Amino acid sequence: MWTMNMAVLHLPVYTVLLVGYVQAGVADGDVTPRLTFSYNAKERTAKRFSASGVVNFTTLHLSNEDKTLYVGAREILFALNLTDISEVTLHRNQDESYILLTLTVAVHMGNSRQEEGRVQFQRQRPAGKRAADKDCFNYIKIFLRVNSTHLYVCGTYAFSPTCAYIKTDNFSLVKSDSGEVVTEDGRSRCPFNPEYKSTAIIADGELYAGTVSNFQGNEPIIYKSLSQGTSLKTENSLNWLQDPAFVGSAYIQESLPKGNEVGDDDKIYFFFSEVGKEFDFFDNTLVSRIARVCKGDLGGERVLQKKWTTFLKAQLLCSLPDDGFPFNIIQDMFVLTPSPEDWKNTVFYGVFTSQWYKGASGSSAVCSFTMDQVVEAFNGRYREVNRETQQWYTYNHPVPEPRPGMCITNEARKQDIPSSLRMPDKVLNFVKDHFLMDSVIRSSPLLLKRNAHYTQIAVHRVQTGSKVYHVLFVGTDDGRLHKAININGKMHIIEEMVLFRNSQPVLNIELDTEKGRLYISSFSELVEVPIANCTNYQSCGECVLSRDPYCAWDGSQCVDIRQTPPNKAWQQSIVEADTATICNKVLNPRFAKSPSIRTSACQPITIPANTFRVLPCKLRSNLAVRKWEFRKTPGHFHYPSPEGGLVVVGQADRQENYECWSVEEGFRQLLANYCVRGEARQESTTFTGRSHIPPISQEEFIILPGEARSPHMNTKTYWNELLVVCALLAFSLVVFSLFVVYRNRSHMKSMLKEGECPAIQQKKPRTVGKPVENLPLNGNAVTASVSDHKGYQALNDNYICSTPPCSSPDNSKSFSESEKRPLNLKESHVEISPTCPRPRVRLGSMIKDSIV
Ligand SMILES: *[C@@H]1O[C@H](CO)[C@@H](O)[C@H](O)[C@H]1NC(C)=O
Ligand SMILES: *[C@@H]1O[C@H](CO)[C@@H](O)[C@H](O)[C@H]1NC(C)=O
Ligand SMILES: *[C@@H]1O[C@H](CO)[C@@H](O)[C@H](O)[C@H]1NC(C)=O
Ligand SMILES: *[C@@H]1O[C@H](CO)[C@@H](O)[C@H](O)[C@H]1NC(C)=O
Ligand SMILES: *[C@@H]1O[C@H](CO)[C@@H](O)[C@H](O)[C@H]1NC(C)=O
Repeated sequence: MWTMNMAVLHLPVYTVLLVGYVQAGVADGDVTPRLTFSYNAKERTAKRFSASGVVNFTTLHLSNEDKTLYVGAREILFALNLTDISEVTLHRNQDESYILLTLTVAVHMGNSRQEEGRVQFQRQRPAGKRAADKDCFNYIKIFLRVNSTHLYVCGTYAFSPTCAYIKTDNFSLVKSDSGEVVTEDGRSRCPFNPEYKSTAIIADGELYAGTVSNFQGNEPIIYKSLSQGTSLKTENSLNWLQDPAFVGSAYIQESLPKGNEVGDDDKIYFFFSEVGKEFDFFDNTLVSRIARVCKGDLGGERVLQKKWTTFLKAQLLCSLPDDGFPFNIIQDMFVLTPSPEDWKNTVFYGVFTSQWYKGASGSSAVCSFTMDQVVEAFNGRYREVNRETQQWYTYNHPVPEPRPGMCITNEARKQDIPSSLRMPDKVLNFVKDHFLMDSVIRSSPLLLKRNAHYTQIAVHRVQTGSKVYHVLFVGTDDGRLHKAININGKMHIIEEMVLFRNSQPVLNIELDTEKGRLYISSFSELVEVPIANCTNYQSCGECVLSRDPYCAWDGSQCVDIRQTPPNKAWQQSIVEADTATICNKVLNPRFAKSPSIRTSACQPITIPANTFRVLPCKLRSNLAVRKWEFRKTPGHFHYPSPEGGLVVVGQADRQENYECWSVEEGFRQLLANYCVRGEARQESTTFTGRSHIPPISQEEFIILPGEARSPHMNTKTYWNELLVVCALLAFSLVVFSLFVVYRNRSHMKSMLKEGECPAIQQKKPRTVGKPVENLPLNGNAVTASVSDHKGYQALNDNYICSTPPCSSPDNSKSFSESEKRPLNLKESHVEISPTCPRPRVRLGSMIKDSIV
């Protein structure tokens, strides 16, 4: 029941505030996480691991066979017992290596000269590198399992990458008979510079790495080191890779199931962003790529000796469906394969950011691509470069047989080509120049988040009953985790958690599907969080509205479906969030068997008459709307507090009832119920009266200055006076402004005649102060997005001008233009700005057409 009394002023204001709030959420088009948990929130507890002096938890390798999490940090390796990663006490023993009491020795690579047989730390320190330079530490970049007994580890080792083997049973470095640690040259496997983005994967005992092979960092390479004999690599002179930043790799067993009629080979996929040379007159446009090689590739006999004969790449494009705005820089890729045999149903989930900015502080997108799309692109047309003009064209002529870049299949074997060594020269010569596929693998964002920079993703395939859901876990560069699910094409962020004490990027996410845990690392901390906490959904409505696939309502509580045996009583409604059917009893929660019953008995509050009190009401969901309900009585006074509470004033010897309800998708839940009683008192005891108030800790207690001394003064007269003053003030303001206009009428006229220029100038401060939504694509590229792509040339090439805030008239013109036509990508055009000498281009959906 809404009171009609004080309505004249407060009620409309309150309603407008509410409506305004709801509309802001919708119009923004952004996804609000339903729940938000602060660091170390008790509802979402995490186990933590950190060690003093240990930073840069750069690599994580989860081994369910060993029940161990292998962690590579700067200068040190850990093997953490999965039973409890946090219950580890570190001891420094005499030789400065770390001992983990519960399980194992953490191997301390580098810097410990006492350790016998260690390679000298300062070996080959590059000229010009200061000894204290932080880059001269040994950053672990590769930590993978080779076989059932050994792990392989590589570190940057002060710009001289080095690798070693570790025995898993006692977690010690493999030593030679003479007691020396067996090391291998890490070149072409591990980058020199710790900041370089590289990737590595071990498939069938062989290491495949995407990295750089020289100290300068300008020789990108995809490298396979055969267990015995020669290695394979990309051909550098042919520019197969253009300053790539690798974000991941995957091994997909496309030879399965055994004995199928295609007889294809297993493949290794690489994901990276690089300079898109096919857009070569759009200088330094970055593109995301998927590249692949075949496991059985042995290189060519005469042509492409010791080089890949199966290297092909295609563009991955994650762009907005409406205006084609591209999220062109891939940050991470998670490859979700239901089972090795079922590789055809693989889904590639990538997180992308943009080289350009749309929205005030950047946004990120999650896009997914299917295996069908990928196969289609690699089976489609090739592109060809004109070596003279350096322009790329679609290759429309017949291609040699067997199809260049394909793995050896039964078809090839029939033609007496059992391996790449027997591949005809004309096929290999073709592949040298036709490594880029013509079709672009497109997708539009599943999840688009403003003001978030996503860095990592993991995806869990959850089967609940007959339905399958893909739950996305996405990490941000400021240490948050989003758990999200796609419902009929719309994204729902189930929860957001702050993972680390300090804002630092999520570097790795490892998902333990068996135990239902996530291991997430950053610069200085490693956390373990359970994938869900169903206990925290305290009513049927919360359980259903959460749309959390891990949780189901069993009639009395929200249960974790992975921890209890399947039950017919379980009810879920992930798609519809149908609280009406599942929680029908709860529609009147006062009588429902739910924890909200606790608040349904009203909480008595006694305050001195004519004093104010804030009644708090904390929403349990960011998507819910708060509704206060109370009886209408004359002389009532109340208004909303900024935090969503209700400010009420005590009425002498009267009791008022205030209920705070949360409404979310039609589900109503009582959050708080107060009985406020005003206590009449003598003028002289105004202040001592306070001692009778039952202490309610977080609540404010306000006494209006005027009120306290004159309790007889009615609120009504107070407001009437205020109204009169306001009206008088407004009137005099209007009169004054009319007067000013009248005085300056001639000046105003001339200003209007001048036309556009003043208008443009007026817009300038807007773009300077708070960048608005519709900045031109090329207008506000900020260096942050450059560092996303950590290729060397990109880092050195200062191609993205830090945009000076509208320093020249030209600039301001381009700003205003784009405000009229926000991000109209169909009208791509080259623009030369005085501050950025190279021509830059609005990248648009028509980009393909403008190449030819
Ligand atoms: C789950 O939530 C409940 C209720 O908020 C809380 O008491 C419990 O500690 C949480 N459990 C975990 C593992 O976070
Ligand atoms: C991990 O810790 C548990 C409990 O402390 C212990 O039983 C188990 O053996 C440990 N695992 C390993 C691999 O050491
Ligand atoms: C595992 O790899 C290591 C290092 O290459 C090798 O010494 C060992 O024999 C291998 N073990 C097995 C069981 O293959
Ligand atoms: C680990 O085991 C190997 C043999 O399996 C042994 O040679 C080596 O000394 C052991 N290392 C440690 C640190 O115990
Ligand atoms: C190592 O951590 C520091 C912060 O502690 C960070 O600035 C640096 O970029 C990190 N380096 C790598 C290679 O992760």
